[in-house]
Amino acid sequence: MTAEVHHVTHPLIQHKLTLMRQKDRSTSMFRRLLNEISMLMAYEVTRDMPTQLIEIETPLETMRSPVIDGKKTVFVSIMRAGAGFLDGMLNVVPGARIGHVGLYRDPKTLVAVEYYFKMPHDMHERDVIVLDPMLATGNSAVAAVDRLKETKPKSIRFVCLLAAPEGLANFHANHPDVPVYTAAIDRQLNEHGYIVPGLGDAGDRLFGTK
Ligand code: URA
Repeated sequence: MTAEVHHVTHPLIQHKLTLMRQKDRSTSMFRRLLNEISMLMAYEVTRDMPTQLIEIETPLETMRSPVIDGKKTVFVSIMRAGAGFLDGMLNVVPGARIGHVGLYRDPKTLVAVEYYFKMPHDMHERDVIVLDPMLATGNSAVAAVDRLKETKPKSIRFVCLLAAPEGLANFHANHPDVPVYTAAIDRQLNEHGYIVPGLGDAGDRLFGTK
């Protein structure tokens, strides 16, 4: 199976991402930019969502017109930085349900350890869009998707802001069937597992915890 990577190069996304990378960008601005980018990424990741025709009345006549079923979509936020993607995505797909996966990286081994997992019921009827701004080692993304596959959803997609080549390779080796949507593929990981050039710790920058 050929792994799918959608590198979303829209100029608006690239411009906003450049602003986010800058180290002196304030917490409030960083948050706002991520919110704006997530709306634009939502547009890409939902591009081929199935629609169904419903009958409606315009002021002039009745017609059959397409709608999407937002209630069948689940946004799964990988805590905690995934939360930064949620509001923007929900602005575009307000009917979506939300799941959370809590994983932390063991600082020594960089292996993902799960501490929280809460999904809507009926996952087998739902299309899942997993959200995590940083695909670094890929270990958290792989672990989150491993767990999600146990719930047997109809489909899974993964959305991030930045990906490292190492993370993409790891993710694709484990989940070649899950398409990845990213705004940038950076050069590499450093010895601490950070993406370089990157934007630093997305959670800290989003929540102002450093
Ligand atoms: N997580 C982050 O927040 N930043 C990185 O560069 C890597 C992982």
